[in-house]
Amino acid sequence: MRSAKYSGAGSASEVISITETAVPAPGPGEVVVRVGAAGLNPVDVKIRAAATDFGPIRYSDRPGWDVAGTVADVAPDVSEWSPGDRVFALAAFPAAAHTLAEFAVVAARDLAPAPAVWSTAQAGAAPLAALTAWQALEAAAVGSGQRVLVLGGAGGVGHLAIQLAKARGAEVTATASAAKHELVRGWGAGHVVDYRDDQALAALDRFDTVIVTVDDTLPPRGAVAEGTAVISITGLSEGDRIRLGEWGAAPVERILVAANGAQLAEIAALADAGEVDVHLDSEFALEELVAAQERVETGRVTGKVAVVVDPSV
Ligand SMILES: NC(=O)c1ccc[n+]([C@@H]2O[C@H](COP(=O)([O-])OP(=O)(O)OC[C@H]3O[C@@H](n4cnc5c(N)ncnc54)[C@H](OP(=O)(O)O)[C@@H]3O)[C@@H](O)[C@H]2O)c1
Repeated sequence: MRSAKYSGAGSASEVISITETAVPAPGPGEVVVRVGAAGLNPVDVKIRAAATDFGPIRYSDRPGWDVAGTVADVAPDVSEWSPGDRVFALAAFPAAAHTLAEFAVVAARDLAPAPAVWSTAQAGAAPLAALTAWQALEAAAVGSGQRVLVLGGAGGVGHLAIQLAKARGAEVTATASAAKHELVRGWGAGHVVDYRDDQALAALDRFDTVIVTVDDTLPPRGAVAEGTAVISITGLSEGDRIRLGEWGAAPVERILVAANGAQLAEIAALADAGEVDVHLDSEFALEELVAAQERVETGRVTGKVAVVVDPSV
């Protein structure tokens, strides 16, 4: 099968190749998925550049975590999936997986039925970002009537966080560059603020929850009040934590997404109910993985980047 490989630390064009390897067999509790599409995330390019583990996030020279496709083979102890099932998954994360290939081994518990209304490219691109958004909203216990601010509303995680917060009945405000405001409103943000407009940022007032999806970003002072939950998916320095605490924010948490097929199934149900869609920034073939990673590296992606491994799946 065709399969992506890294040769070590370096730029995408220096280290990525597509090689031929054997089709894997499922071990106990595992399923082999015939891959239609796999998503890319900033973590893919960061870990490729460094070729080393990031804390609990495992580096592998055979990369890829997001996947959508059809079940090709199941281990004898797996009863919940059958060949031909259309599935998607965040495989194993933060442990290593290898989905940027024609066939991928995935633990049965990480899989969920792919939404019928999403293309395979959308389903392959969504899992890590959608689960991150879901787990951030869970960490803040976001519910009906809450006011939620999403810093970075146009990115992979941000655009799904807006829709999933809206589906929970929250009132959502998001930040994005001016050119993306119409799209961000379309995803359900009632109010959108240009992140380059200091006056508009300063006017943001008292949210129940702030989801931070932008690197090195402290929420605007006015957005945080006594009891505001601040959930960061990017770095949270000790200084930021102290300052947020002084402003009354609680809880203040930095989360790391974890694979979870049951939560992905809940997201799929919302997708099929028309409550959440995946905006595809761009699609690339597996042979174009260098260009696909370079697109993610720009930091300007709107929604998600998909790698279409086999368009016939
Ligand atoms: N902790 C975890 O488990 C976890 C999980 C997923 C992701 N992450 C991390 O979270 C970050 C976001 O991930 P992602 O997949 O959403 O990234 P992404 O899709 O690459 O985000 C790109 C988007 O961010 C927007 N943006 C850039 N600077 C901004 C700013 N100052 N304010 C508002 N928007 C801004 C860009 O809009 P413009 O083009 O208009 O600038 C672009 O649309 C990354 O650092 C990623 O590694 C962590």
